[in-house]
Amino acid sequence: MSDKNNQVSRRQFLNYSLTGLGGFMAAGMLVPMLRFAVDPVLQQKSAMGDLANVGLSVDDITEEPQRVDWEVEQVDGWYESNVNRTAWVFKDENGDIQAFSPECKHLGCFVSWEGSEDYPNEFFCPCHDGRYYKDGTNVPHTPPLSPLDVYEHKVDNGILYLGEPKPREEA
Ligand code: FES
Repeated sequence: MSDKNNQVSRRQFLNYSLTGLGGFMAAGMLVPMLRFAVDPVLQQKSAMGDLANVGLSVDDITEEPQRVDWEVEQVDGWYESNVNRTAWVFKDENGDIQAFSPECKHLGCFVSWEGSEDYPNEFFCPCHDGRYYKDGTNVPHTPPLSPLDVYEHKVDNGILYLGEPKPREEA
């Protein structure tokens, strides 16, 4: 084969160069788009999973239900927002931590511990006089038909972490 056959013509050189440059530019645009598309899938969860530090030391939890408020970052696809959460937290007679959702199981109003002077030592919903015993079970013949949801919880370094509230049979 002669040297002439091995030479690259000016036209071929330009073709190769422009194809290479075009491919490089296309990759530069596609990689960030691909990264954006799969980003939620690549997010790493913290060591505590979806449980959030609610800023309460276990030593400060008594047998009296106390209201605990905290904020969680909610990611819905690519939309991130902060959501307020509330729980009623206390230790039961066995010393186990209980964390109940304040959302009434009737129509979702806010349930408070001893929210009515007429019903001491109970959770009370003012919307339709819904009542729950201290263990979160609904008082028969009041509007709620099921117990308060229970937050999944963990204790790490003496600090309480709460996750999602779940119906009792799943908790
Ligand atoms: S919403 Fe609570 S009793 Fe109706």
